[in-house]
Amino acid sequence: MAPSLEKMRIAGHLAARTLDHLSNFIQAGVTTDFLDQKAYDFIHDNGAISACYQYTSKGTMPPYPKHTCISVNHVVCHGIPGDKVLKKGDSLNIDVTVIVDGHHGDTSRMFFVDKPSIKHKRLSDVTYEIMMRSIEILKPGTTVADIGRLGYEISKKYNLKVLDQFCGHGIGTIFHQAPSVVNFIDETLPDWNHVFQEGDFLTIEPILTTGKGRVKLMPDGWTIVTCDREPAAQWEHTIAVTNNGFEIMTL
Ligand code: MF3
Ligand code: CO
Ligand code: CO
Repeated sequence: MAPSLEKMRIAGHLAARTLDHLSNFIQAGVTTDFLDQKAYDFIHDNGAISACYQYTSKGTMPPYPKHTCISVNHVVCHGIPGDKVLKKGDSLNIDVTVIVDGHHGDTSRMFFVDKPSIKHKRLSDVTYEIMMRSIEILKPGTTVADIGRLGYEISKKYNLKVLDQFCGHGIGTIFHQAPSVVNFIDETLPDWNHVFQEGDFLTIEPILTTGKGRVKLMPDGWTIVTCDREPAAQWEHTIAVTNNGFEIMTL
């Protein structure tokens, strides 16, 4: 069934408000589990649920045990909240996906504990620039290739690496669906020439690193880290393609 624009707006707005809410609690000394609990409370108090809880991808991964993904420093994505204590100088991505009336809102932002280092800040800023400039070219007729090429060009300009193991996705009444929305160049991808149309919903969620870009999966089955322990940054919005452009659901 085609998702409803109005319901996607409501889900997207709740996901964004969850991140706003969590930003009040980010400080040295708190655990990532504490932030996850605050997210759980906020999402449920608003009559929604987290799409992450018990999520499993094609049965190849264990059910996800928490409500958010919190990825600190060299954790690339899918960091499982736990007893890790935040400290001054940490950079973290919090990724929230809520379901409201069967519709998904998926968004993530970077946060810093106190003042970020110049390196963390620059990495986050360039990642944000790739996300926003990719969103700004969306309209009927934009292709996955347009987005992939733009991400590559911007990352190259700043001498940073886009992680090519991860991508955005179609979204709606289903959490993850085609097409794969990449921020790098790979003309052999099945969705490379995918053309977006009015009424499509997608996420754009680039991940960049200051390092070489090799990653590994931790034994918990979810947490991805950089092999060289260089930091990673990610930003994500859920977006609708409109008749002449785009509308961001997760502002
Ligand atoms: N929110 C992530 C995304 O942007 C997916 C997280 S799946 C989870 O697509 F199970 F780890 F939560
Ligand atoms: Co997400
Ligand atoms: Co996503």
